[in-house]
Amino acid sequence: MTTLGVTSMTSLISQASSVGDSTVDLSDFVCQEIEYYLSHRLSPDIARAFSDSAAIIQDDDDFDNFFPPPEFAIPSQFQPEARVGPPQLSQILSAFKLWGQGATHEDLHTQLKQISLGYIEPFCHPDKSFKVEVETFGKKISRNDKVNRIEDLDFLPLRGPIKLKDPDNIFHLIEYYGLDPNSVPDNPYQVFFGQWICDGQRHLITQIALKDRKFIGNTSMDPKLSLIMANMAKICHGDLVLDPFVGSGSLLVAAATFGGYVCGTDLDFLMVHGKAKPTRCNQKKREPDENIRSNLRQYGLESHYLDVIVADAALPVWSDQCMFSAIIADPPYGIREATERIGTAKTYTIPDHLVSGHIPSKVSYNLQDIIRDLLNFSGAHLQVGGRLVYWLPVFKNDFQADLVPAHPSLQLISLSEQSLNSHSSRYLVTMERLPENSKGCKENQNGAHVPEATRVFRDKYFQKAVERRLQTSYPDSGHTHIDQLS
Ligand SMILES: C[S@@+](CC[C@H](N)C(=O)[O-])C[C@H]1O[C@@H](n2cnc3c(N)ncnc32)[C@H](O)[C@@H]1O
Repeated sequence: MTTLGVTSMTSLISQASSVGDSTVDLSDFVCQEIEYYLSHRLSPDIARAFSDSAAIIQDDDDFDNFFPPPEFAIPSQFQPEARVGPPQLSQILSAFKLWGQGATHEDLHTQLKQISLGYIEPFCHPDKSFKVEVETFGKKISRNDKVNRIEDLDFLPLRGPIKLKDPDNIFHLIEYYGLDPNSVPDNPYQVFFGQWICDGQRHLITQIALKDRKFIGNTSMDPKLSLIMANMAKICHGDLVLDPFVGSGSLLVAAATFGGYVCGTDLDFLMVHGKAKPTRCNQKKREPDENIRSNLRQYGLESHYLDVIVADAALPVWSDQCMFSAIIADPPYGIREATERIGTAKTYTIPDHLVSGHIPSKVSYNLQDIIRDLLNFSGAHLQVGGRLVYWLPVFKNDFQADLVPAHPSLQLISLSEQSLNSHSSRYLVTMERLPENSKGCKENQNGAHVPEATRVFRDKYFQKAVERRLQTSYPDSGHTHIDQLS
């Protein structure tokens, strides 16, 4: 494991040039990611599309084509002088301009000695104070060892005064020892040296924490993941954002945090009206103002709240002209809540005098249809360049990257896996609306293709649960019962 291991902790960003060159391109970046449990994979086609701007790590079979999505890249105009985090880097701990990296300190030193002086001169000037910090991941080292590492970098032509408090430039030496606490190597797998650029906006995760939120539901989305979704959707100030499966509105909170104007729909009347059974233990009754609007008010974002309405995602209420900048969704999988849509198997006409009080009946809404409707709706209602970001649950054994649902008007941007248990994962899928003149875009408004595996996900999930229960209850019975089930 060389670069790969580091990538799960620190993303190598915009690594277009070879670091083995005699001059190191200072547009290279290293970011420390705080999301260890999301891995980012792209299909080979997309990998090719981004190969100019991202590192493709190929030294581990399991992680072919593993590289950071472009959203994690820091814009090149982001200068070290600007010491504020870019608005959407909530999953980035810090970002560094990469000066060099190596499998050993010697490799790193060789590289650093080859950096073009002209390039680093502005940071080495006698007027520029600096400090060097040593960070280790996966192992603690002593203070003395840290000081020795810094002294070994004496050859760097940094001529300014050392200033520990608020220096002009901060440099980091980063050692990576892997993620397995049971097998920590003596020497690091990789060593990096870079100039600190900025810290991310990690504070947003605690700012919108669920424990302090006024209104939550059983399926409220974790703030970290909500912010990642808003980030992947590239939500910016003034964007119009829809969550068609809004629930308790967690995704709207994240989208509004990034400046979006937010709205949503949900089939569950009680949830939309904040009347569903309380979620917090010991709470008997919901407060009268426990609802999504109150959440946005709590975070000072009420002016970004448009509204939420009771509506079926299968029967969208929006006019053809209504276009969204982003659609973010956590559709129901049928595991923790039923998947239903309005409909009936019967044929009947409702008499006029009963129409106003009629409560429509519901039928089951299969995940394959849910995703198909979501993609078709997004193909028709996303602005060009707008993004759809949603979770796709998969049965691990069934899933391959080329089985991702597709739509002719939507280009797949990235897939990020979150493992849920030994047999199931969910993928965060990011798609972008293609220009009108793209091939097949106009003619194929309802052209979503959703693989069969999506339809059978729920059944397989529950079959696996039964299989486990049987194995626990009758450990010696082999798989006879299970085979009968399938
Ligand atoms: C996984 S939950 C979404 C949770 C939400 N992200 C949150 O943070 O609370 C899925 C939601 O989809 C809603 N839903 C189920 N079927 C629907 C349909 N046909 N149309 C619209 N919403 C539906 C459910 O009522 C549920 O609130």
